[in-house]
Amino acid sequence: MKKMAPSIRKLFDAAKKARLHSYSPYSNCKVGAAIRTKSGKIYGGCNVENSSYGGAICAERGAIQTAVAAEGKIQIRELLVVTDANPPWPPCGLCRQIISEFAAPDLTVHLMNLKGQQISVAFDAIMPQAFTPEHLNKE
Ligand code: THU
Repeated sequence: MKKMAPSIRKLFDAAKKARLHSYSPYSNCKVGAAIRTKSGKIYGGCNVENSSYGGAICAERGAIQTAVAAEGKIQIRELLVVTDANPPWPPCGLCRQIISEFAAPDLTVHLMNLKGQQISVAFDAIMPQAFTPEHLNKE
C-alpha cells in the first residue's frame, strides 16, 4: 500500500473501522465512509441494508447523519469512501444529492479500496450544477 498523507490516513482508518460494522446481508458489499467537517472532527458511517431492499442506507449518508446528530448544521470539507472493489466505488446519485446539501465549495472526495488504491476528485466534478439550498435562498 502506498504511503498516505496523514489527513487521508485518518479518514481511511475511520471509514475502514465503520465498514467493519456494515450490515449488508443482501448485496454482500461492505461500504465504509468518513467525513471531516469544518470543526475538524471525523465521522464514520457504513451501509445498512434492509429486507425491503429499497430501504438500504449508504455509508455516506450514515456518516452525514451521525455528524449532523453530533454537530447540527455541518460543512463537509473532505469525504472518503472505502470498499473492497476495483476500481473503488464513487458515491451513488442519491448520496451525491445529500452531500450537496453540506458540501464545502472545495470539497474533495477520495474513492479508495482496501488495497489503498485511491482516486481523488473534486466533488464539483462528479456533481456539476447541483441543486443546493441556495436555490431556495436558504443560505
Ligand atoms: N452503497 C454505499 O453504501 N455507498 C455507495 O456509494 C454505493 C452503494 C451500498 C448500498 C448497498 O448496501 C450496497 O452498497 C450495494 O449497492
